[in-house]
Amino acid sequence: MCGIVGAFRREGGVLDELIEGLRVLEYRGYDSVGVGLLEKGEVVVHRRAGRIEELEKLLEGQRGSEARVGIGHSRWATHGAPTDENAHPHTDEAYRIALVHNGIIENWQELKSELVRAGVVFRSETDTEVLAHLVGRELATSRSLAEALGRALERVEGYYAVAVVSGGSEPELVCAREGPPLCVAATGEAAYLASDVLALLPHTRDVVFLEDGDVAEIAPGRISIKNRETGVVERPVRHIDWDSEAADRGGWPHFMLKEIHEQPDVVARAMFERLDLERGDVILAGEAFSDARLAVVQRVQIVACGTAFHAGLVLRYMIEGLAGLPVDIDYASEFRYRSPVLSPNTLVLGISQSGETADTLAALRLATLLGATPVSICNSIGSTMVRESEASILLEAGPEIGVASTKAFVAMLVAGYLFSVRMARARGTCTKEEGRALLDDLSGVRPGLEHLLARDSVKRIRAIAEAHAGKKGFLFLGRGINFPVALEGALKLKEISYVHAEGYPAGEMKHGPIALIEPSMSTLVLVPEDPVADKVRANVEQVRARGGPVICVGSDPESLALAEDAIEIPNVGRWLSPILGVVPLQLFAYFIAAKKGCDIDKPRNLAKSVTVE
Ligand code: F6R
Repeated sequence: MCGIVGAFRREGGVLDELIEGLRVLEYRGYDSVGVGLLEKGEVVVHRRAGRIEELEKLLEGQRGSEARVGIGHSRWATHGAPTDENAHPHTDEAYRIALVHNGIIENWQELKSELVRAGVVFRSETDTEVLAHLVGRELATSRSLAEALGRALERVEGYYAVAVVSGGSEPELVCAREGPPLCVAATGEAAYLASDVLALLPHTRDVVFLEDGDVAEIAPGRISIKNRETGVVERPVRHIDWDSEAADRGGWPHFMLKEIHEQPDVVARAMFERLDLERGDVILAGEAFSDARLAVVQRVQIVACGTAFHAGLVLRYMIEGLAGLPVDIDYASEFRYRSPVLSPNTLVLGISQSGETADTLAALRLATLLGATPVSICNSIGSTMVRESEASILLEAGPEIGVASTKAFVAMLVAGYLFSVRMARARGTCTKEEGRALLDDLSGVRPGLEHLLARDSVKRIRAIAEAHAGKKGFLFLGRGINFPVALEGALKLKEISYVHAEGYPAGEMKHGPIALIEPSMSTLVLVPEDPVADKVRANVEQVRARGGPVICVGSDPESLALAEDAIEIPNVGRWLSPILGVVPLQLFAYFIAAKKGCDIDKPRNLAKSVTVE
């Protein structure tokens, strides 16, 4: 999704820093890119459809730019095609300001008609240009750019993160937030803003996250924030531990492969300092996870999207199985538009890697409004979701750059397991000894992952993937707690290799999808050694009997023996089997996409964080 960067230096040009910032945000997906600079007090804009390299070609000869203030943007087209004209920044008619925007201005057509009637000539098809003209007009009668932006935003309905520069004798750099994320930072030498904290980390680890309604004015050594409702505000400075090196590919051909290989460490980090083996319990920060609060919970409502939704489906099995609590789960985009009825004492659990997914946030807010207690499982420490939750379990997975989520999924499952054990202990559905045994089971996960990610194992999975790469379609089957893993395997394959893949509960196969079975349709079946292993084995036989090629992934020896291709995974018990089961499916998708020459880290049409509906 769109990315914003901005910089204001005391000395020296900002162009290189803006380009570097845009590069950091590349992983989020974009189709055009641009920068707006203050060159000797004048607003100058450079923008191009396509990748950053296109912009760099345009900028050849400009790299010695002395502009000390500027903004940059990577756009993911919503209103208007990805063209040079529609790329950001946009300016007002007199080029007094340049503006970049993430989000949607819902009443843009109404505002545009009004501006056209007043004689404004539009140069793009975007909703953003409306805002540029509004700010430009307000500037004439305002004391500062921040005031002009605040006034213009009063007329806007929608969701936005915006950054604006204005020239003249005193350069100004301001930004505002209502919905999509935005953070700012200041050092003695410079000030920065970005829509993603990763773009600030090369400059500083001390960052301020803006809240909805905030307008911030930044300059070297200074951040001033005014909120629409409360006036001047001080927002806390948060120290980010993430290493900017972690956002580097470090020799791997793709971030996705790097992140798949990080998973043994990710699992260890998600558990770090959270296991209380003595008491057979889990330590989770936050009053909402205390015995007293969890003991009265009557229902859990999970809301999430995409891969996080699949993690939520796994969590339903864990929470119901371990803590005996009813769990409802909805796609966040569906939850928000039905009329959900929540029972009293409902805990609403939002799951999200980014913590900024618009639908998940809206669903969490709706459930909170209906009386539920909001908690979350999230990877981004300063995200909106974390800030709006009463308590959160942070994934500690580090930045996930590959658009197709891998390590965050695995970390969500670990966090969900810890949450389920905590819930079970608080509600007395498991004893200290049983709690201890459940936590002991975790000790097999990291070595199991290391085994799966060892060179020979990866080589074997690669060979199987390449042998099936030419198939016309793929069916992924799983049962019980591994059914969501089948959904996740199919999602990974379709999003990065663009082949059709469907995930199905194995037991549903004979109710329809069995009609698809033929030699050009490969079926991947998750076959853990668990109470439903014999039922899944029957599915494997049904596919084989109809001439369909089968790949079995799991620890059930009898099923593995039936398949022509088998990927054995260590047995870590029923509840934890999805954590290992998903890894061969991630690698399978990766190697098929690589064989097809797809752009794995930036799959077409996809954005890393979907901050609009
Ligand atoms: C799939 C993928 C998406 C996200 C979904 C939710 O690989 O990455 O389906 O899982 O957009 O994103 P978060 O977890 O940031 O809320």
